[in-house]
Amino acid sequence: IGPDVIDIRKLYAQTGKFTYDPGFLSTASCNSTITYIDGDKGELLYRGYPIEQLAVNCDYLETCYLLLYGELPNEAEKAKFNETVMHHTMVNEQMQFFLRGFRRDAHPMAVMTGLVSALSAFYHDSTDVHNPEHREISAIRLIAKMPTLVAMAYKYTIGQPFIYPQNDLSYAGNFMRMMFATPCEPYKPNEVLVRAMDRIFTLHADHEQNASTSTVRLCGSSGTNPFAAIAAGVACLWGPAHGGANEACLNMLNDIQANGGVGKIGEFIKQVKDKNSGVKLMGFGHRVYKNYDPRAKLMRETCYEVLNELGLQNDPLFELAMKLEKIALEDEYFVARKLYPNVDFYSGIVQRAIGIPVPLFTAIFALARTVGWIAQLNEMIGDPEYKIGRPRQLFVGAPARNVKPIGER
Ligand code: ACO
Repeated sequence: IGPDVIDIRKLYAQTGKFTYDPGFLSTASCNSTITYIDGDKGELLYRGYPIEQLAVNCDYLETCYLLLYGELPNEAEKAKFNETVMHHTMVNEQMQFFLRGFRRDAHPMAVMTGLVSALSAFYHDSTDVHNPEHREISAIRLIAKMPTLVAMAYKYTIGQPFIYPQNDLSYAGNFMRMMFATPCEPYKPNEVLVRAMDRIFTLHADHEQNASTSTVRLCGSSGTNPFAAIAAGVACLWGPAHGGANEACLNMLNDIQANGGVGKIGEFIKQVKDKNSGVKLMGFGHRVYKNYDPRAKLMRETCYEVLNELGLQNDPLFELAMKLEKIALEDEYFVARKLYPNVDFYSGIVQRAIGIPVPLFTAIFALARTVGWIAQLNEMIGDPEYKIGRPRQLFVGAPARNVKPIGER
């Protein structure tokens, strides 16, 4: 395929040999035109546009349009897309009865995997992944309804009534209102905070073939319906090595704070370096970025803006995070392994400052990543070379043997 890339399928056809590559460290599973990452340069492009330019010049729905259709919208296209998405923000009233079946203290990601998958039970007109019209309408529905579902999951855990969407607001503004308004008190929008939320969405919108996106592709490759494929992505994202890192990072900061704060960082870092401890510095490291995560730089800026806006510059948890960042960036262990803060190191701090409860962080990531998952699923289904995903294995178990009668085992 290229100077550094071997088409292993040809090799397999000629020799019957296949590769052994746990964790897909050196295996490309597809061609893609959506997102480009250069891990060494710390570069991230959506459809060719640098993330730094998109974060500053475009809102999340423009980014969604770009990821889905390949180009940024003009004004008329943007207005039409916004209207279409916002028109679909409500969920079927039956969904609340499904939600009410969960324990109030259920983790929001447990609830979200159920709710997203359940959407396929409501929209029979958009479950055929091979039908482009079905794919189009399911994409709009998923993008539109994710904020409503996340806000409903939150309101349910705190025992407040659900707040219905208000479609004349911005995408992020509507989400914040559904989260924070009550029937007794309207949500007073704060532009800085709404913009920060929109930026969180934009920075998390896609990230090529990460674990959850690969899960969506693999799940969708069987021809399952788009809602089910996206629900698989939500489930995969939940893990602490992936989308759950922002929650795990905040929990880690809280733990250090509760056990002595800044003065205990040295001890904590010692634990992280001890391979037997199993302790990792959450929010640090990335499979692809071995220089820096460009999203982290943008999220760090947002972090300062939000904390200034809320007068939280001296927030002890933020001070702790900054101290940890400084030590880790100078420490030989982290430098040698090219471990830098990733986007989730800062996004958790921003969300906490905005008032988002920690267990909801990953659900917000799922909301934002939904468009990326859909764009990748659509790209795969539209690819003439697309086949059901079916990795091989290197079998290392018992050789063939005979079953003994139970009395002889
Ligand atoms: N803290 C301490 N040591 C680490 C960390 C960390 N966060 N991350 C990697 N290392 C060490 C490993 O122990 C390994 O050390 P060794 O060479 O001495 O054995 C070395 O750095 C290389 O790490 P790998 O595990 O090989 O890196 P990999 O690419 O497989 O993992 C991952 C990447 C999963 C992101 C990892 O860095 C990690 O677990 N980070 C913390 C969780 C996190 O923040 N995830 C968010 C990812 S971004 C996102 O999903 C939006």
